[in-house]
Amino acid sequence: MNILILQSSPRAKGNTAWMAQEYKNAAEAAGHQVTLVDVSHKKIAGCLACEYCHTKGDGACIQKDDMQELYPLMAQAEVLVLAAPIYYFTLCAQIQAPIQRMYCVNKPAKVSKMALLLSSYSPGVYDGAKAEYRDICNYWSAEDTGIVTANVEEQKTEETKAKIEALVGNL
Ligand SMILES: Cc1cc2nc3c(=O)[nH]c(=O)nc-3n(C[C@H](O)[C@H](O)[C@H](O)COP(=O)(O)O)c2cc1C
Repeated sequence: MNILILQSSPRAKGNTAWMAQEYKNAAEAAGHQVTLVDVSHKKIAGCLACEYCHTKGDGACIQKDDMQELYPLMAQAEVLVLAAPIYYFTLCAQIQAPIQRMYCVNKPAKVSKMALLLSSYSPGVYDGAKAEYRDICNYWSAEDTGIVTANVEEQKTEETKAKIEALVGNL
């Protein structure tokens, strides 16, 4: 399958980036075609709610920033993997922006499956992020293939790697 992973931590060698890379490694080993994008180092602004896309824009966003690179990748993706650190009990802003900028096309055209990789310091801080992710899966009519979380005790461990590999096995 064509898999797009959005990695959203600004820490290039951090835990979320590690989880995203492990997912990519496992998915490629299973024969999938994988694109991993570090959205945290892209210039992606929030939606302006100007409704240009739904009026004159005919589905195109008026903002010409790095979402222009992401729109074609989102249009081709069959599996969308969101990889995010928890910031203040929810998904970080860097992953919220590209999700919300999909407003112009409403949903990624081919995405039928999704997965979520979350990193945090503390355990038990995932309810907000999980709820939002599951609502997005429902809204985009995508199957939730699973969620892997890693708090400070669980980061970059063989156990977490095995959980990520199992997630790929759900595709
Ligand atoms: C702005 C900010 C907010 C954070 N909020 C939380 C939080 O609410 N709960 C928590 O457990 N960790 C929180 N953290 C810690 C990160 O989620 C944690 O260090 C995570 O592993 C970072 O992932 P990374 O290594 O991919 O950057 C926060 C970190 C930052 C920078």
